[in-house]
Amino acid sequence: MYIAQEDVMNRTTIKNHQVESDALKIEWGDGHQSTYHYMWLRDNAPENRHRNGQKLIDTLSIPLDLSAEKVTVNGTIQIQWANDGHVTEFSPEWLRQNAYESSEIMVRRTQKSLWDSRAFSKLPPSFSLSELQSDETQLRDMLAHVRDYGFTLLKDVPVASKSLFQVIDLFGYVRDTNYGPYFDVKVVSNPSNLAFTSATLGGHTDNPYRHPVPTLQLLHVLSNNVDGGDSTLVDGFRVAEDFKAKFPEQFKQLASTLVTFRFSSDDADLSCESTIIQTNARDEVVGIRFNNRSMQTFYVESDKMKAFYEAYHTFAHMLEDDRYKITFKMGAGDAMLFDNQRVLHGRIGYKSSGDRHLQGCYADIDSLLSKLAVLERAH
Ligand code: OGA
Ligand code: ZN
Repeated sequence: MYIAQEDVMNRTTIKNHQVESDALKIEWGDGHQSTYHYMWLRDNAPENRHRNGQKLIDTLSIPLDLSAEKVTVNGTIQIQWANDGHVTEFSPEWLRQNAYESSEIMVRRTQKSLWDSRAFSKLPPSFSLSELQSDETQLRDMLAHVRDYGFTLLKDVPVASKSLFQVIDLFGYVRDTNYGPYFDVKVVSNPSNLAFTSATLGGHTDNPYRHPVPTLQLLHVLSNNVDGGDSTLVDGFRVAEDFKAKFPEQFKQLASTLVTFRFSSDDADLSCESTIIQTNARDEVVGIRFNNRSMQTFYVESDKMKAFYEAYHTFAHMLEDDRYKITFKMGAGDAMLFDNQRVLHGRIGYKSSGDRHLQGCYADIDSLLSKLAVLERAH
């Protein structure tokens, strides 16, 4: 969006200011009004913040009834504090940048791009591993795709065991689990998991029995010479938002009923009690745990059981609807990287006579977002 220089000036021009007992009020050149509480101003003053983001002042050292002795406005704003006479200087740019009216906060928040199958009439581009290793612009674009869409496709990942580690090396660290640093997905005799058969796997998130859950997952194809075996992805946040809009009461059921997920073997016993849809204090969807295979016997009050199953059915049907699901075939050397709290993955069943072998591993999204932020700093 183009913003005229004059508008930028107006945003940071102080038209009026008013010194109140507990806060400073500012009317800006563009007409917007902001309130800054003294407690907040002193606690967040740039002079007390290291450039690494760490605050070098103890909030408890500031009296709750802090007030301003004197406020001077001449280009910058200087506040002399009543409790100790210290003077703190604030620039108008900093004040406007950090204004905390909800309208200003909304503008600053980055929005995710929620998608359904129509958003990708053609599959999104896949990034070549060797190009990602040598070209930081491509790496930035790939990581931004994961942040915004919750997944990315990769190609030219060497057809060799553990090549996925080279992908993770681009931004972070392998999340080791009781399955080891990586796992093989292929048909085995006496399978312990449906994944190790040739059956269809509906959309799911992996390892919902862990807390914290692995926030990123990678799947890499070493071979896929079978009839079927296509991969599926669904934006769980898109589906959850539509579910909330169409069936608000059912949404509340899945966002408030605790269920238990579990995995138990000779050397591990993992369980996690969680809602299927996780929301934050603003009632925004921040996570999905959906995996019918690992859901345990659960208990809700008798008069709520029918409503819970109705809600579960509706949501599960929506997750499988072609309106939301993208389906594509990955061949040897292809891989995908996705946000395991947002995007559900699955596969179409196949004839077990052929040769299909995937490797998977987990990582975490904090380091991916950190690497992306560092790469975006340069622009
Ligand atoms: C898995 C899985 C998908 C596939 O192992 O977690 O979902 O394509 N596999 O086999
Ligand atoms: Zn899976």
